[in-house]
Amino acid sequence: VLGPVTDLEIVNKIIAPDGYFRPTVLAGGVFPGPLIAAQKGDDFRINVVNKLNNTAMNTTTSVHWHGIFQHQSNWADGTAFITQCPIKPNGTFLHVFNARNQAGTFWYHSHLSAQYCDGLRGPLVIYDPDDPLKYMYDVDDASTLIILSDWYHKLSPTMYTGPFVPDATLINGLGRYTGGPLSPLAVVNVQQGLRYRFRIVGASCDPWFNFTIDGHQMTIIEADGNEVEPVVVDSIPVFAGQRYSIVVNADQPIGNYWIRALSNHLNQTFAGGQSSAILRYAGAPIEDPQTEHGPYVLPFDESALHPLSGGPAPGIPEPGKADVNILLIPGLRGGQAQYTINNVTFVNPPLPVLLQILSGAQHPSQLLPNGSVYTLPPNKTVEISMPATELTPGGALGGPHSVHLHGHAFDVVRVAGNSTYNYVNPVKRDTVNLGLQANGDNVTFRFVTDNPGPWFFHCHNDWHLHNGFAVVMAEAPSEAYIQESKAAPAYWYDLCK
Ligand code: C2O
Repeated sequence: VLGPVTDLEIVNKIIAPDGYFRPTVLAGGVFPGPLIAAQKGDDFRINVVNKLNNTAMNTTTSVHWHGIFQHQSNWADGTAFITQCPIKPNGTFLHVFNARNQAGTFWYHSHLSAQYCDGLRGPLVIYDPDDPLKYMYDVDDASTLIILSDWYHKLSPTMYTGPFVPDATLINGLGRYTGGPLSPLAVVNVQQGLRYRFRIVGASCDPWFNFTIDGHQMTIIEADGNEVEPVVVDSIPVFAGQRYSIVVNADQPIGNYWIRALSNHLNQTFAGGQSSAILRYAGAPIEDPQTEHGPYVLPFDESALHPLSGGPAPGIPEPGKADVNILLIPGLRGGQAQYTINNVTFVNPPLPVLLQILSGAQHPSQLLPNGSVYTLPPNKTVEISMPATELTPGGALGGPHSVHLHGHAFDVVRVAGNSTYNYVNPVKRDTVNLGLQANGDNVTFRFVTDNPGPWFFHCHNDWHLHNGFAVVMAEAPSEAYIQESKAAPAYWYDLCK
């Protein structure tokens, strides 16, 4: 476990988390990367050290702290080509930021190309000693993290044009693949009679996972760093980039129980211990569980998630009545090679967008990725709606997508699978599933432009992001902001030299 003031070395290493050896790009030489644990209010000083040298994958890098707002520290957001130049081999980059009032479950990952699919992903948790929901659980530490990820036997640069089919699902960095060895599975240890806060991280490059624990219900208490009114469910869909905290009461007979994370990829089954981990009570034999999953009588309903505190969505409570209303329509050209938003494919600019803004090019120019930058005025309510689109005939390959906005949590006034709008107590989160075209979904969310900076907004399917499924929300590039941001450290500018 690392603290908020730490070095984070990015290295190449050959590992076999599912029994198949491959070269990887790892934070701290482990998969998933080490937990970065902080207390609410802590200052972060994370020095990313690039030790990469395997040229079969990217040897430059950048590390993004997913869900951290980076208020007044946009330069530290870690987004290659948006807020910084990539860190070159043997280079370092010190991220200095404070998450102010944020607490909850976050994660970090490479934000360069599809590099996190090669391994660079890990958890970041900000613990709140005054958590208002603390009465609900007894244990919440590094042992209660549940990191869900997909895993590939091919290196990411060989996969850019698809197909985007993972070889295995890993839970806490362990798993099995079809036809592979009986590689060890992750074990989550509990003691009968205690209540556990499990922090689930959807550290996926592509799939979403249906998460269940045999014999146990789960009480959701957090979505993406925002505590929610407790809701009891039997299963949770976890999309790429999303996090949940759940409380699980170890109130069952002492034994072993399957934890399942079934992927939407049909080659990922449960057979042979794939897509699973073991919930083991103290005193249970060291053996695989024999349990069956229960009936899903309490299905997950995202519209049933409401913030624990905080008021209604900002602005006039009617669809399309925010100060700024933006419709973003996803699309696709040329197989899966080029995603579009409003018919434009995002292409990395030669100079990071933030650097362009600081040097005075705050209006669309040749440099900013043309048609991909949405300039937003300060202190206004913005409503974004996105119709779902599966993008491929039959809908099997493209979606459902989950989209993420940097620099904010947003109020999801219309969730997938629901055609009603809730401006009264919508769930607040930073990554949302767009649902299915077949269901007529049109996911809609709001936020206030109270955090100046160019913030990336993109599909969190890393392959889709690599292929252009992104835009930039250039929030309030005002003169005052530009002056303030010019105070970014000299070493930040030096990255681009
Ligand atoms: Cu989790 Cu733009 O990223």
